[in-house]
Amino acid sequence: MLFDLDALPAASRYKLLTSTVVPRPIAWVVTQDAEGRLNAAPYSFFNVFGSDPPVVALGVGNRPSGAAKDTLANITATGEFTICLVTEATLQAMNITAADFDAGVDEVSQAGLATLPSTKVAPPRLADSPVALECTLFQTIPIGAHSMVLGQVRAMHIRDAAVMDPVKCYIDSPALGLVGRMHGAGWYTRLDDRLEVKRVTAAQLAERKA
Ligand SMILES: Cc1cc2nc3c(=O)[nH]c(=O)nc-3n(C[C@H](O)[C@H](O)[C@H](O)COP(=O)(O)O)c2cc1C
Repeated sequence: MLFDLDALPAASRYKLLTSTVVPRPIAWVVTQDAEGRLNAAPYSFFNVFGSDPPVVALGVGNRPSGAAKDTLANITATGEFTICLVTEATLQAMNITAADFDAGVDEVSQAGLATLPSTKVAPPRLADSPVALECTLFQTIPIGAHSMVLGQVRAMHIRDAAVMDPVKCYIDSPALGLVGRMHGAGWYTRLDDRLEVKRVTAAQLAERKA
């Protein structure tokens, strides 16, 4: 079936895109406002877009009132944030931090979350998250109703049990127990299934045909 996105309302475009571009990793973004008050919220318009420099991007929409979400306002004000990755064990707490609290409400304490200090940025990281990325603002790009926030990753904390070889930077991804956003509102997926397909060169493919 063909869907003409040029002719569809934004809500329909959202449903089509978010139920097919799956699973999406979830950035649990921790920020602080200019007074140092904590804020946390999940963002699944999220991925990594480069490694030199190491850059991640978030797609941040506005509140229904049109005001900026706290995450964007805080990153704009301070230029710093941490991104914690979400596990099945922290899914309920993550969901609480997505509630439409007023600006200035500390979702970290609302969800009963413990924090640990970061090393290069002021916002702390969530203690129960197996991976935390300390980020500084690289660039903000307005994209219609969203803002694309590019963050440069300055440091990463990865749970020891998932680090197979710290020198070679080999990480046991399934051991992290992460979840992704999947299927539609309120649905998630575990990421413990995998398939291996080794990369091939053009020369190998030509040899197979010969
Ligand atoms: C799993 C999940 C993913 C979300 N992803 C996004 C997203 O990518 N962009 C966005 O603007 N809002 C997203 N939201 C909604 C925000 O988390 C929600 O609006 C939150 O209240 C924003 O908080 P803040 O104002 O403290 O930044 C998501 C919510 C959930 C539950």
